[in-house]
Amino acid sequence: MYEQISHSLLNDILVELRQKSKPQNLQLFYTRLGANFYAIYSLFNTLYGNRPDFKEQMRNLVETLMRQYATRPSHLKKTDLEREKDHNWFLSQKWVGMALYCDGYADNLQGMLPRLSYLQELGVNLVHIMPICDCPEGKSDGGYAVRDYCKIDSRFGTFKDFDKLVDSMKKRDMLLVLDVVVNHTSDQHEWAEKAREGDKTYQDYYFTFDDRSIPDIYEESMPEVFPETAPGNFTWDEKMGKWVMTVFNHYQWDLNYQNPSVLIEMLDILLFWANRGADILRLDAVAFLWKKIGSSCQNEREAHLILQLMKDCCQVTAPGVLFIAEAIVSPTEIIKYFGEDAINAKECEIAYNATYMALLWDAVATKKAILLNIGIQNIPQKLERATWLNYARSHDDIGLGFSDSDIVSAGYEPLSHRRFLVDYFTGNFEGSLAAGLAFGRNLETGDARISGSLASLAGLKHALENNDVNATNMAIKIILLLHGMILSFGGIPMLYYGDAIGTLNDDSYLNDESKSTDNRWAHRPKMDWNRAMLRTQPGTVEYSIFCAVKKMIAVRKEVPAFADRNNRELLNVDNPHLFVFSRFDQINNSPRVLVVGNFDDEPQPLKLSPLQHMGFFQHELIKDLVSGETLHVTDESLICPARSFYWLQA
Ligand code: GLC
Ligand code: GLC
Repeated sequence: MYEQISHSLLNDILVELRQKSKPQNLQLFYTRLGANFYAIYSLFNTLYGNRPDFKEQMRNLVETLMRQYATRPSHLKKTDLEREKDHNWFLSQKWVGMALYCDGYADNLQGMLPRLSYLQELGVNLVHIMPICDCPEGKSDGGYAVRDYCKIDSRFGTFKDFDKLVDSMKKRDMLLVLDVVVNHTSDQHEWAEKAREGDKTYQDYYFTFDDRSIPDIYEESMPEVFPETAPGNFTWDEKMGKWVMTVFNHYQWDLNYQNPSVLIEMLDILLFWANRGADILRLDAVAFLWKKIGSSCQNEREAHLILQLMKDCCQVTAPGVLFIAEAIVSPTEIIKYFGEDAINAKECEIAYNATYMALLWDAVATKKAILLNIGIQNIPQKLERATWLNYARSHDDIGLGFSDSDIVSAGYEPLSHRRFLVDYFTGNFEGSLAAGLAFGRNLETGDARISGSLASLAGLKHALENNDVNATNMAIKIILLLHGMILSFGGIPMLYYGDAIGTLNDDSYLNDESKSTDNRWAHRPKMDWNRAMLRTQPGTVEYSIFCAVKKMIAVRKEVPAFADRNNRELLNVDNPHLFVFSRFDQINNSPRVLVVGNFDDEPQPLKLSPLQHMGFFQHELIKDLVSGETLHVTDESLICPARSFYWLQA
């Protein structure tokens, strides 16, 4: 939109910057800046308009965008243009992701190179390499406590190693996802150090207080993220002689986005990594970006404005780069991180589908898809040009983040149902073989989350320990069922490293003092490459899981209906154990796919007549796309085996 006030400000800024900078071809930059400037100005004005340094900060912002544009490598500028033309590129079913630690998966960045072939063998072409920035050893929260955003941690390697890896990934058509930890820094970051030394400019980068009076008011309404290991949301810093806000661990200082300098610094960092070749940036803990007294300090409106600003600015300098929102919050809040009232994403193009993840685990424990069906039905429709990141496990705990009202609708009582789930997954429920661990137990609220590897939560650990062949097979089925669900739901499936070979919990973190109190490390193991070799040996667990997942991935890529174009219909079937949805393809008019998941440990019938009325099952022979088998429908129903799924061309 053209608007006089903002436009004349922009003219002034550009005249000033042009005098300072070397002449270069900025034509594309100017076009994009012109297109987005009114939005950028309005957002910046809403957030910071009443500051005396507003204009100066606005100039700093534009200067940052221009400087980063000037250094953006030409091959990335070319990609930007290609993606502008093909703007729905990321909705394709061709993308399949995996999240990994570079030192857990390989030893370091250099070691990643020969390990790319494993990913390709499986069909993975989007790789989330978890944080690689410089962090203090032992106080890193797995890389999420950054000391220097523009330096690679020496444990992982150098920029030379990184560039080599990126280059090799590009040649293999693999996308790179990198984290930017936007909400907080390490207490050893330069800004924190300066704040500690008494520099007011940097104290204003954080939330610092002389005494407890304000922190105490904040605490009244703020929940705790790590109640066991880092209770409270403020930490006393002896040297600074002040309290500082630390929502996560005591050594993670929350950044103050009420200060525009923080936003501009962070934008600079986002663009730095965009220019280093990241295709997608994962913005960590975005729900926490704005703090307000009297609120939970999560999902505040201003947090969304900050993200919109980041998006609008990134579109000016590096428009081909997408954002993932890591906002593990309630279903109705998550959806807002795409941006509201729009067709294309105004904030992040991709968001973690934490609701689906938690609901899938609920279905595993209850053996029923009742809550799953209700929960999915109640997720608001997402934007057209935005997509989910669907996952079964990640490096974090599983939070039972579905809504209480959905639990009630499913016929359970919320408190006892959540307690049951924690008991079930920690193996404290009759008949449960799950070997998870309770994480973040809050004795006041009774809340708990769950740690543990996918395979261990699915019962594989205990099944193998007991030499129980049937239980082993059942655990494998659960592992595959969950993969079958995330690969077909609509969105980008994000596998977790190790899950395709059934990696179990790893207890070695208990021997490391810096990790032993955080049991999320139980599911952050070193990849066991000897076990991975067994993937080629028929009869092994590794073979059974790996081959099946590989097959699913290959099939997914060939089914246009699996692209994410809001083309899913949940189907109500008369069987509480089944989760059934159809995927269709409005664009190519290719055949619909009926996805059927049976969460029970007994085979379950799917009644055909209601589906026949909807145009499914018109023929006697039905093809299951995964196995390639033809299923005969002779009776009134189709039997779906225990803990299994079909992708039916019906
Ligand atoms: C994110 C990360 C998690 C980390 C937290 C604090 O949610 O995924 O691992 O502990 O942020 O940085
Ligand atoms: C994240 C999530 C929370 C998770 C935590 C630590 O920011 O919001 O659900 O438990 O970090 O893993």
